[in-house]
Amino acid sequence: MAEKKPLVVVTRKLPDAVETRMMELFDVRLNLDDKPMSTDQLIEAVKTADVLVPTLTDRIDSQLLAHAGPRMRLIANYGTGVDHIDLAAARQHDIAVTNTPDVLTEDTADMTMALILAVPRRLAEGERVLRSGKWEGWSPNWMLGHRIYGKRLGIIGMGRIGQAVARRARGFGLSIHYHNRRRHHPDVEGELEATYWESLDQMLARMDIISVNCPHTPATYHLLSERRLKLLQPHAYIVNTSRGEVIDENALTRLLRAGDIGGAGLDVFEHAPAVNPKLLELDNVVLLPHMGSATFEGRIDMGEKVVVNIKTFTDGHKPPDRVLGEGF
Ligand code: DGY
Repeated sequence: MAEKKPLVVVTRKLPDAVETRMMELFDVRLNLDDKPMSTDQLIEAVKTADVLVPTLTDRIDSQLLAHAGPRMRLIANYGTGVDHIDLAAARQHDIAVTNTPDVLTEDTADMTMALILAVPRRLAEGERVLRSGKWEGWSPNWMLGHRIYGKRLGIIGMGRIGQAVARRARGFGLSIHYHNRRRHHPDVEGELEATYWESLDQMLARMDIISVNCPHTPATYHLLSERRLKLLQPHAYIVNTSRGEVIDENALTRLLRAGDIGGAGLDVFEHAPAVNPKLLELDNVVLLPHMGSATFEGRIDMGEKVVVNIKTFTDGHKPPDRVLGEGF
């Protein structure tokens, strides 16, 4: 008799290739019209399924997990960040959690570097002027930005993405500084020519550009509080491709408006998809709708990771991307 396949519920539409592979391996309920699932639909899913495949747009909290049925054993997240999942509640219900690290590192680092270039060089502002038909031609003092080469970049969170950003930034002549929960081995620091700052406050006060690359956890919520943002030099730029919650967005907006911070490049927002309307009015910001990992290749690789995690887990092995708890 054929073995019963695990029931897998997928909360959003995934790339076709990924869904097809899932259909071959598992008993799958897809979400073909990609409408985010309601709370009731999520409750029904955790009650009946063996595996839930959510994304960052689903809130997998303790209230939801209280409805988990006896079969529910794995949350195989489609994405790296797991701040939308209550890990402690999952552990309490003996539900394993996996994610999709590594495969979006290079894409996210590319987007971070794009913002590091775009903000000081006023890329979006220039493009807006050109499209508006108001460009009157080249002039010596018009649309001047700031040079990247030779400046100091402070990376908050020197994990995989932070290191990939550092490698790119060195190529642009930036000197690399970092703050991380743990200092890296001298070999890593040597390769990146990176200077470690145990004190985040000290680093913030000395950098020209700050890049946020740490995950959002209870420890990093508003890590860049108003007090810390005020430590930045007035010409400093800040780039965030991690999670909006790491920065106090209202405080950042106020400081940008007042000219106390040079500019910001944001791919993520504290209350996404809502964006502080005052940010939208500013010229010294480049704002993107969470596109850091948005490549065809990356999204397929993420799906393949989800498939491997489910398959190894349901075959009785340890999945490769088990999430044990987060830090930075
Ligand atoms: C993730 O996987 O957490 C990313 O933020 C998606 O872009």
